[in-house]
Amino acid sequence: MTERTLRELAREGSLFLTERGVADAAFDARQLLAHLLSLDGTAFLLNGDRPVSGEDAAAYSALLERRAAGEPLQYLLGEWDFCGGTFFVGPGVLIPRPETEQLAETCIDAVVSRGLKTVYDLCAGTGCIGLTVAKACPQAEVYLFELYDGAYAYLEKNAAAFGLPNVRLVRADVLQSPPEGLPAPELIVSNPPYIRAEEIAGLQKEVGFEPVTALDGGGDGFVFYRAIAEKWLPLLQKGGFVAAECGEGQPETVARLFGQYLDCAVVNDLYGVSRFVTGTKV
Ligand SMILES: C[S@@+](CC[C@H](N)C(=O)[O-])C[C@H]1O[C@@H](n2cnc3c(N)ncnc32)[C@H](O)[C@@H]1O
Repeated sequence: MTERTLRELAREGSLFLTERGVADAAFDARQLLAHLLSLDGTAFLLNGDRPVSGEDAAAYSALLERRAAGEPLQYLLGEWDFCGGTFFVGPGVLIPRPETEQLAETCIDAVVSRGLKTVYDLCAGTGCIGLTVAKACPQAEVYLFELYDGAYAYLEKNAAAFGLPNVRLVRADVLQSPPEGLPAPELIVSNPPYIRAEEIAGLQKEVGFEPVTALDGGGDGFVFYRAIAEKWLPLLQKGGFVAAECGEGQPETVARLFGQYLDCAVVNDLYGVSRFVTGTKV
């Protein structure tokens, strides 16, 4: 059998995914092939005429089949970029979302402008928020809280890859009282599970591959915000800052919950959708 070139395989892959209804077929097909052959974007473009071995072509077909079946591209690649850093991802942990980058940037601004020292990232997952803040703010000590084994394993792996001295991982249940013996936070950030339990089954096929424990916000979607308000916000030092990501339609209610302890604001995402709640303890 004649070997096909990189360009031919990428085109075939794109067509295969398009026919199976994958939204960003060309992008995904290229990413998978580049990943398989360990090529970066430039090398991929420069090597379009390179022949691909039958073995690699077969491995590529297998990846395309899995992508067509709904496995997220990010899980197949095993890593994903967030705020300029690369995070290991895979089954068991939520894939960092682009809108969450705004949350991490908001925290960095607050740490820098207010000179905050102790940061808590509740429901840390991959650690994308807390590790990004820790990297940008070496003067701050960042505590990342996560409960579940699958996510915690990725958190440990990412923390090890970042290798930062100002990071502390804490295995804890955010719905329960905070562990004792830690310094009081000056900034609390969280992107907790916030989907209403009954909505989970109807989500996009790819989301079904992500752990339900990263999505399920309880019957009304507000279980974690209530726990954060009742159990964690009272720890916040005066002048401290809070930033939380919410589902669509949730920020106003979250601002009311947090408003018992904070002077709160609802903040839009880059698409103009109200998405975040920020607040200062007065
Ligand atoms: C929506 S994900 C967010 C992950 C990450 N912060 C991000 O923005 O990509 C929520 C995370 O909360 C974790 N989680 C769920 N229930 C928890 C609990 N009771 N205590 C601590 N973490 C929990 C999940 O395992 C998941 O990693």
